[in-house]
Amino acid sequence: MNTSVDPLHDQSDVVSEPACDRRSDPGSGEETILVRGNGPLSGTVFVPGAKNSVLKLMATTILCDGPHELSNVPDIVDVAIMGDLLAAIGVEMSRPSPGELVLLNTGDIVPVAPYELVERIRASINVLGPLLARCGEVKLSMPGGDDFGARPIDMHIAGLEAMGAEFEFSDGYLQARADRLHGADITLDFPSVGATENLMTAAVLADGVTTIDNCAREPEISDLCEFLVAMGARIDGIGTATLRIEGVDQRDLRPVSHRTCPDRIQAATYLAACSVAGGELDIVGARGDQMTMLLDRFGEMGLDITVTDSGIHVVAEGRARSIDIATLPYPGIATDYKPLVITMLAVADGVGIVTENLYPGRFRYVEELQRLGADVRTTGHHAVVRGVPRLTGTRVKAHDIRAGAAMVVAGLAAEGETRISGVHHIDRGYDDLVGRLRAVGASIERV
Ligand code: UD1
Repeated sequence: MNTSVDPLHDQSDVVSEPACDRRSDPGSGEETILVRGNGPLSGTVFVPGAKNSVLKLMATTILCDGPHELSNVPDIVDVAIMGDLLAAIGVEMSRPSPGELVLLNTGDIVPVAPYELVERIRASINVLGPLLARCGEVKLSMPGGDDFGARPIDMHIAGLEAMGAEFEFSDGYLQARADRLHGADITLDFPSVGATENLMTAAVLADGVTTIDNCAREPEISDLCEFLVAMGARIDGIGTATLRIEGVDQRDLRPVSHRTCPDRIQAATYLAACSVAGGELDIVGARGDQMTMLLDRFGEMGLDITVTDSGIHVVAEGRARSIDIATLPYPGIATDYKPLVITMLAVADGVGIVTENLYPGRFRYVEELQRLGADVRTTGHHAVVRGVPRLTGTRVKAHDIRAGAAMVVAGLAAEGETRISGVHHIDRGYDDLVGRLRAVGASIERV
């Protein structure tokens, strides 16, 4: 992974707040989540579509005029932010009913992505490929999103340059031009999700054939491929490490109706909740076949997991066993699962070592777990977690989406009350986490 293009590395997340910010103060008026560990969960919880897919599907509607319909859409803040960004570009979003979106590409596309919107979500970078392919030019502020440290986009740029684009950076904006992109043979240094998505969406309208080798294979990438194929794109190698995209004429594309793939990270959140609280859950809508490695590891920890036609059935009895685990690109253990896994290990029997291979800085929530009494030590990209029988509730803060969900899970494992601030982070990626957990017996509320 190259880190040579300096202006791209300053991707501080304005959505996250400084490390030394206020803790939630019940008198401050800030909304918090209050959790009380109250024993086993039981019942059915539905998992909606994946944030990390739907935002990309939305951005990709830039390629083709007309009304695109998306279903299984999670009711999360990031969808609204992407909707605002697309409205500024020329794609109007409406919500005909819960879980459904219509994105009307008016054909009048403005290839400018303004700072105020781009800074709020990382997925805003996904308009780069479609805008460049469609308009031959783009002006994009640098993307924000979760605060995982530097999140460069050098691979996106190198790939688009290989397809004939020229880039300039000034005043925090990235500008690119290409009269017509052409096919290229691209090998990514690392299977980056965002770079794979930008390159494949750009390649759909390029002149000739593009191959992307060592591409990301996440289920959300396959979902985007299927969406593009339904739009008229020609893509081979879906789900493999090499995608081959044959460019088509923009007039040959047609609007699409598509069901968003389920959110495997939300599914893992309910598995983690069941692990620390005990009980039995039917996690409906989840795709166990897209979570195989994680389910195997959770099985080693003692969860009794069955993949069913409708989702995942889990039974948790007694204390979980510790394991060692390392994050890797799909089909490995996703980095987004890690805060949940560390929370499970915090109350498991034994010592577990967790290795982060994608975002070295992604351990910020550990200090919050320590406030709850967890015994976790981090060095470099490793965390050593010595399980304790029980955490103790106190005030903690959600630093980003997944860390916020992990705090909720930790609250279920804690004696007494856990009050979580920074709830707006959780709302960016979770569709009624509180209501869904309460419906299966958790003592949890927003206050
Ligand atoms: C996406 C997900 C995020 C998830 C991540 C990894 C969205 C909106 N976000 O982020 O939740 O944690 O995949 O599964 O879908 N890199 C470079 N140069 C590049 C691009 C990436 O060095 O040009 C590095 C990154 O800094 C990181 C690694 O590659 O260390 C993986 O990044 P990438 O797969 O691109 O993640 P995102 O698409 O940003």
